[in-house]
Amino acid sequence: MTQKIGILGSGGVAQTLAAGFLKHGYGVQLGTRSPEKLKEFQMNHPQSSIGSFADVAAWADLVVLAVKGSAALAALDLAGKQNLSGKIVIDPTNPIADSAPENGVLKFFSTINRSLMEDLQAACPEAKFVKAWSMIGGPHMVNPDFPSQPTMFLCGNDAEARKTVSSILEKFGFDPEDMGMAEAARAIEPLCMLWCIPGLTGNSWNHAIKLIRK
Ligand SMILES: NC(=O)c1ccc[n+]([C@@H]2O[C@H](COP(=O)([O-])OP(=O)(O)OC[C@H]3O[C@@H](n4cnc5c(N)ncnc54)[C@H](OP(=O)(O)O)[C@@H]3O)[C@@H](O)[C@H]2O)c1
Repeated sequence: MTQKIGILGSGGVAQTLAAGFLKHGYGVQLGTRSPEKLKEFQMNHPQSSIGSFADVAAWADLVVLAVKGSAALAALDLAGKQNLSGKIVIDPTNPIADSAPENGVLKFFSTINRSLMEDLQAACPEAKFVKAWSMIGGPHMVNPDFPSQPTMFLCGNDAEARKTVSSILEKFGFDPEDMGMAEAARAIEPLCMLWCIPGLTGNSWNHAIKLIRK
């Protein structure tokens, strides 16, 4: 069973998911270029440890890439592609451009026919990327409190990796929806734009997306 979770990043998503994995009984290390950013996190979660991107990627048996979208390729270089080889890399990143949103709609640096995750998978072909957690705000990523279970769309080229991530998402309170191969990230990543519109236009951030069927 996957037990050692390496979270690359020190921001809100990294800290929230790290706390979530600890709560669910996993071992957690966080990777950062700036350990001082995680001082308070580590005081509050003394069972976690902090290292460089490379140390954490080498230690982990599953990695979460919780870094700024525009820095994701650089973060893979820092982690060391050999340290990610054969491992599941959960990818919550979104390709948000630096330019300002337009009427609450974020700008992306990717295109509709090529997602960020496909670029990451191409750059690191031996890793098993699975897009997940990209379509909901950080505060709702761990066992969120909604009247019904939110959907979490996921995709990636390795079917076993998608199964592993689906079972993790269930523990974290989501209804996982497996959308298949990495190309599906072209549709999943823009859900971040949709999710953010009520926040950016009306400061309303407490919602989630749900797929219904009959
Ligand atoms: N915030 C949300 O609610 C939310 C929701 C869904 C998805 N996401 C996605 O999740 C990811 C993380 O979001 P966030 O808000 O937690 O943090 P963020 O501010 O987007 O990213 C912070 C992280 O990016 C890393 N980083 C920045 N420039 C770098 C570089 N040149 N090389 C290597 N690493 C670099 C930083 O590393 P250091 O630790 O070394 O400084 C830091 O850990 C983003 O892709 C975001 O789009 C965010």
